[in-house]
Amino acid sequence: MTEKPIALITGGAQGIGYACAEAIAENGARIVLADINAPGVEAAADQLGQDTVGIACDMGKPDQVLSMIDKIEADLGPISILVNNAGIAQPGDFLAPRRIEWVDQVFLGGRFSA
Ligand SMILES: NC(=O)c1ccc[n+]([C@@H]2O[C@H](COP(=O)([O-])OP(=O)(O)OC[C@H]3O[C@@H](n4cnc5c(N)ncnc54)[C@H](O)[C@@H]3O)[C@@H](O)[C@H]2O)c1
Repeated sequence: MTEKPIALITGGAQGIGYACAEAIAENGARIVLADINAPGVEAAADQLGQDTVGIACDMGKPDQVLSMIDKIEADLGPISILVNNAGIAQPGDFLAPRRIEWVDQVFLGGRFSA
């Protein structure tokens, strides 16, 4: 267990999520980065330092999200801060049925699970 409040940042390997992680770490929280990009999230956790934990997790898969949360709470303690940031912005035909399903999985499925 840890004394610092635990902050979980999804999509934390880069971009806005990583920037949030830096800011929240500066304010005294212990950071857990979750991202579908396994090597990227490990590298980001190393770069941030301060005992940051990087976890590979697809936020579009509720089973992965729930087991990640169980593991964080068992290993580190309760999650006090959630930045539910993971998401996708890709060019292309947004209205294509498979793309809508995929976007819903990440934005709706993942965020409600977390
Ligand atoms: N940058 C913008 O202008 C902008 C505008 C509106 C909304 N947003 C939203 O803000 C969030 C962050 O944007 P960003 O610009 O930092 O994007 P980014 O692409 O730089 O970072 C997104 C991160 O989310 C991760 N990710 C993608 N799918 C995932 C999944 N299924 N499970 C776990 N991680 C996943 C990616 O690997 C990546 O590390 C996104 O949700 C994006 O849609 C961004």
